[in-house]
Amino acid sequence: MTSETIPNKLPYVLAMTGASGSRYGLRLMEVMLQSGCEVHLTISPSAGIVFQTEVNRTLDLKQVTLDDLYPDAEWTKAAEDRFSYYTHLDFGAGMASGSFRTAGMAIVPCSMGTLSSIAHGLSGNLIQRAADVHLKERRKLIVVPRETPLGTIQLRNMTTLSEAGAIILPAMPGFYRQPETVDDLVDFVVARILDQLELPNTLMQRWGDGK
Ligand SMILES: Cc1cc2nc3c(=O)[nH]c(=O)nc-3n(C[C@H](O)[C@H](O)[C@H](O)COP(=O)(O)O)c2cc1C
Repeated sequence: MTSETIPNKLPYVLAMTGASGSRYGLRLMEVMLQSGCEVHLTISPSAGIVFQTEVNRTLDLKQVTLDDLYPDAEWTKAAEDRFSYYTHLDFGAGMASGSFRTAGMAIVPCSMGTLSSIAHGLSGNLIQRAADVHLKERRKLIVVPRETPLGTIQLRNMTTLSEAGAIILPAMPGFYRQPETVDDLVDFVVARILDQLELPNTLMQRWGDGK
């Protein structure tokens, strides 16, 4: 088997949009980069606002580096050559074309606005276009919505996306492992995303494993 045929040697696309839950996207990318994945990231302007609200840091979305996302983290140096960032209207990015091969895409968190736009095929920004490409190419698309309660239109949009092949993975942490910290809750959701991307992880003890 050549390196070309090993799926996880292909880059993963990660998009963050303006739903609450920046920490899910941050943590997911941290684990992916630490485990050797290549990640192509794009962030919507609304996600930048949510990030500032939730993480207390302002991102310059024209140019986002790993240092901006993970200040003071030592592991980022070793991951720099596996990280690329694209602005949300950069339709020239590889992820905007089906000929650019990827191992899959995750939208974490996914706003109702982005979810609706993808369900209706708008391709109005790079995130929506890359998601459209992943669906048409029959590649993995993981959508991690966060909203409550959910309205009928939102539920219909989720059904549309699910029928088109996307995996709808709501940011809904379980409590059966008795989480003690916010990190535990974040890891619960991130572990489920990694499972869907078929990336090995030990973020949470699996039900049925040991105690
Ligand atoms: C602090 C904050 C929290 C938000 N939380 C949510 C949310 O949980 N779910 C959601 O669908 N929209 C949420 N929104 C609204 C979206 O950001 C808004 O609909 C935006 O247009 C989405 O754009 P995008 O999909 O391009 O990122 C939030 C906005 C702000 C400022």
